[in-house]
Amino acid sequence: MGFIKSAVILTLSFSYGIFTVVLYACISIKNGTYFTRRTEKETLELQIARDRLWDLSKDFAGLSHHIITLASGFKFHFVSNEAPGSPAALKSDKPLVVFVHGFPDSWAVWRHIVSSSSLQDAACLVAIDLPGYGGSEGLEKYSATGVLEKMTELIITLRTQYGVDDGFETRKKKTIIVGHDWGCIISMRLAAEAPSLADRFILSNGPLPDLVKSNLMRTIDSARKMHKDAQNAPRSSRPPLLQAIRTLKPLFRQLTLSGYIFAMQLPVPLVEYLLIGGNQSLMRAVHRGAHGKAEFNPRDAAESMASSMGPSLAESKTQTSNGETYPSTIKYSREFANVMNMAGYYRDGASTRIWQKSLETIAGLHGLAGGNDLRRTSSGAGLFDEGAPGVLKTSSTVFWGEKDIALDPTICLDGMADYLVGGSQVVLLPRSGHFTPVEVESRAALEAAVQWAVQGEKEDVGVAVQRTYKGAKVIVRR
Ligand SMILES: *[C@@H]1O[C@H](CO)[C@@H](O)[C@H](O)[C@H]1NC(C)=O
Repeated sequence: MGFIKSAVILTLSFSYGIFTVVLYACISIKNGTYFTRRTEKETLELQIARDRLWDLSKDFAGLSHHIITLASGFKFHFVSNEAPGSPAALKSDKPLVVFVHGFPDSWAVWRHIVSSSSLQDAACLVAIDLPGYGGSEGLEKYSATGVLEKMTELIITLRTQYGVDDGFETRKKKTIIVGHDWGCIISMRLAAEAPSLADRFILSNGPLPDLVKSNLMRTIDSARKMHKDAQNAPRSSRPPLLQAIRTLKPLFRQLTLSGYIFAMQLPVPLVEYLLIGGNQSLMRAVHRGAHGKAEFNPRDAAESMASSMGPSLAESKTQTSNGETYPSTIKYSREFANVMNMAGYYRDGASTRIWQKSLETIAGLHGLAGGNDLRRTSSGAGLFDEGAPGVLKTSSTVFWGEKDIALDPTICLDGMADYLVGGSQVVLLPRSGHFTPVEVESRAALEAAVQWAVQGEKEDVGVAVQRTYKGAKVIVRR
């Protein structure tokens, strides 16, 4: 019975995945992007953008490139306004802000926000490439353990290199983690399972896996109950059945929006075809959509694509000022050699599987938690008190672009308050879509929130954000 059930589910998921691949191809054929090759001018723009974003020897708007090799030997690429480990960074009393991008991006999705000179004056900004993206090394498997172990080691290392912790004292200054999309999911897992890594999380348009699961279950349960009531009731009172179907609407909506997640589980050639087939029409559509209603000029198009692609062969030969180079494991000669890494996050269970912490990780996190314990007592969560699964144990500010076409707000936000501790908020951005770090209005709102956190959270975050984004609504305050 169990075998038949799982065979049915597998067949349905597979069919839905195939359907999505075909659907996306049809849409781009209809839009005319499927059969349009990049023009010579676009190719030139793209190479210029890749040079601007990825040449290790060149600064980008006050930020320099760095390659950090962790104790485990793993290499991360990031940009920062201060050199890690430099006397200035070690002595600086400016808070550390780490930016974590999502799919299908890289550090460069933050390029507008981290270029801000007022933010650069106020904080040490670090915009990283996730494992397998941009200029960071790839992983064998993008499992929760694979990704979260590397992220934890990176953040502990950055904290030391930017003067947050030293051998004598921890939390000498504030650490803030900012995440979007997959970067949001990963940061939420860190806030839930490694809360001592930061003092504040700022999170945008990514689902909280445990909350989504519980909302889906609740929706199915209540629909089932209504269906049962309808069966028990006399024929005359059939409306409850309709109501049951109506209850399932958010679930169906999310399922429709999530077709690509099913497609990501297909065999490798089909996934590559989905993501970059038909002259990269899906990538182009995603980048166009990311800019909302605003103008999308050739430079935006080229920079977005360069952000997704990472360094080309030309940039792979460049060096940082202290002679560091990109990992030798990346295949720079092939455009989009990284697509299966991007897909790996969906395929290998990075969001939902168990994170098996290594002894090094447990010891590292314990070391941070052993410092100033003020926050822990205020949130009521002790080191061994795990609480409900998925609860974000560090104060978090969740931003939500309401026009997100990938994520249903009923499924992703209902009940969020139960997953937040003291000092947390949920802020709705009514005119923005999924790509809050890219859209002009929402990126100003995010920048205002980072500035608010960096300056010591002296006022209400709603007030701080509404100054740049009229109509932003704080719907949850803890
Ligand atoms: C890309 O566009 C060209 C030019 O129209 C077309 O011939 C080619 O088949 C397209 N490539 C793919 C993979 O569909």
